[in-house]
Amino acid sequence: MNKKTISALFCWLIVSFSVSANEWGKTGHRVVGEIAQQHLTPKASKKINELLGGMSLAFVSIYADEIRSDGRYDHLAPWHYVNMPADQTYQYAEKNPEGDIVTAMETCIKILKDPKSTQEDKSFYLKLLVHFIGDIHQPLHAGRKEDKGGNDIQVFWFGDTTNLHTLWDSGLIDHYQMSYTELAAHLPKTGEAKKERLMRTPMLDWIHESQALANNIYEQTPANAKLGYVYHYQHFETVRQQLLVAGLRLAATLNMIFDPQ
Ligand code: ADE
Ligand code: ZN
Ligand code: ZN
Repeated sequence: MNKKTISALFCWLIVSFSVSANEWGKTGHRVVGEIAQQHLTPKASKKINELLGGMSLAFVSIYADEIRSDGRYDHLAPWHYVNMPADQTYQYAEKNPEGDIVTAMETCIKILKDPKSTQEDKSFYLKLLVHFIGDIHQPLHAGRKEDKGGNDIQVFWFGDTTNLHTLWDSGLIDHYQMSYTELAAHLPKTGEAKKERLMRTPMLDWIHESQALANNIYEQTPANAKLGYVYHYQHFETVRQQLLVAGLRLAATLNMIFDPQ
């Protein structure tokens, strides 16, 4: 192999690996941050603003992905998802000894609530929490272990080869071609009573809602399916609803931490 071939191969490897490590794409995470920002109490908003040095929740929402290629953070890789068999609840499912998204969110919350935590730790774990509450509302972040939450299921999206997980992280959202602020302004309209109910749902329900949605997605998307307009039309409402719910629950969690009543 000559030098050119080797460097081309290397580039291809980097691209393939970064695609398989994708999350709700950047747009999805920023929408969740933007919705949460709009639902913070004034006191929580002020404390968060201080911790983040004025950066918005949308801005910090992809930090957990940005640090992925830094070896010092390798132990955080399993914190982005949980794998459960389709018919088992989290409580009874076998746990990953290296942690999962549930233990990750609990760890972040514990550190943020602890008066002994340093400002630096609080800032770090706040950025992670913003990201993980987004991730867990992408249904395939609560998918099956055997196909890595859909990463191992190849599908075709408007003729391009991708996988089921990436389609739900970013393909469906990117096809819509809205910026994160536009998409945040065009989520389903929800009355105050329903918003409050959504904001009060306990964390384990978030997991099981995602698992139920993932079960439907698996059923409706066979491997090697050729997907396009019809699939988008059938599933984009689920994406919009999950982005809204994730944003509301992120706000509720941050209000509980930074402005407990
Ligand atoms: N991302 C990487 N591995 C995953 C898995 N097993 N489940 C969900 N998301 C993942
Ligand atoms: Zn993902
Ligand atoms: Zn993630």
